Amino acid sequence: MSKQNTLNVAVIGAGAIGLDHIRSFQQHPAARVVALAEVSPRRGREAADLFNIPELVTDYRRLLARADLDVVSIALPNYLHAPVALAALRAGKHVMLDKPMATNARDAAKLVAAAKKGRRLLMVGQNVRFTPEVQTARQLVDAGVLGEVYHAKTAWTRRSGIPRIGSWFTQKRFAGGGSTYDIGVHALDRCLYLLGEFDAVAVSGQTYSKFGARGLGEGSWGKSEIDPAKPFDVDDLSVALIKLKSGRTVLLETSWAAHQPEPDFNGLQLFGTEAGLLLPPLRLFRQGKHGYASELVPTRTDLVDSNRMVHFIDCLLGKAEPFVKPAESLAVQKILDAIYRSARTGREVRIR
Ligand SMILES: NC(=O)c1ccc[n+]([C@@H]2O[C@H](COP(=O)([O-])OP(=O)(O)OC[C@H]3O[C@@H](n4cnc5c(N)ncnc54)[C@H](O)[C@@H]3O)[C@@H](O)[C@H]2O)c1
Repeated sequence: MSKQNTLNVAVIGAGAIGLDHIRSFQQHPAARVVALAEVSPRRGREAADLFNIPELVTDYRRLLARADLDVVSIALPNYLHAPVALAALRAGKHVMLDKPMATNARDAAKLVAAAKKGRRLLMVGQNVRFTPEVQTARQLVDAGVLGEVYHAKTAWTRRSGIPRIGSWFTQKRFAGGGSTYDIGVHALDRCLYLLGEFDAVAVSGQTYSKFGARGLGEGSWGKSEIDPAKPFDVDDLSVALIKLKSGRTVLLETSWAAHQPEPDFNGLQLFGTEAGLLLPPLRLFRQGKHGYASELVPTRTDLVDSNRMVHFIDCLLGKAEPFVKPAESLAVQKILDAIYRSARTGREVRIR
């Protein structure tokens, strides 16, 4: 840790989410964003000026050489997550990594091993898990309000929400995958966290690409760069049945684009022996004295800080325990990979 009880942070990537990383770290009084790496000089300069960041570089490796740097926060296209995180961990930095952890489980496992070996904090910023609603839901599960939870449905589906058609997001070699990696990762992570179980034994999945390949389904996450030289070769809808070690099941649905009633649905349902739970908003369903009832549950406030960067710094200061653990993110990555493999092979995929 650096002197004066402050932690020096470098953010890598100043795109849409990189700016959120900077802003979120700046909410913590003990965090100083001292450096930024961005390959686009114009974007880098704008962000450095806006947030008063003293050092700006185009090559992130220059930052890793800084001895006074404690934390590296990665907001890069998916294919750069694993190599940059690995380099940062090997340089002795703590790493906050945006999702998905990597573009395959093999690379994700290398990160888990490097963090363990170097005793560095590695966390994937699963911001959906950090929401008070999800954390309150977990308290209900832990308190036994639902009885035995034996099945779950989790989904993030959009009607027209493909991020920037033609950009790295929609090319397999840069993104690794489409809606499954981009938003399925949140829906799955949230669900497994609520079930308190990350180990799956079998996955059966299917993926589709019905909109993006026609140039349809564009969302509002930046401007599309439609160009025949940049093929849309990722999924824009997927569905999976996941069997967990305990025998419980999860149905995962994800879409960037699909004909559906809501423009954007991001929710979950838990099936317990004593009650059911649905969010959002957080509701319980159960048999009451006067018939079957649905009740809204107020969210609690005595929870892990919903700002994932503030939480990350608190962990380094010894004020909090890591909320998202590397082994959990690796398990999520294995399941996402299995969905793609199952879709490719037409078979159920066993996970070891
Ligand atoms: N947690 C969330 O809810 C959430 C939301 C959106 C995006 N994301 C994730 O954040 C990551 C970035 O997404 P985005 O929308 O900000 O993408 P983006 O394309 O807007 O930003 C990526 C930035 O990285 C820069 N870059 C590329 N290569 C670089 C390199 N080698 N060194 C330094 N800079 C480099 C690009 O110039 C660009 O400015 C993705 O992995 C995405 O999945 C997470």
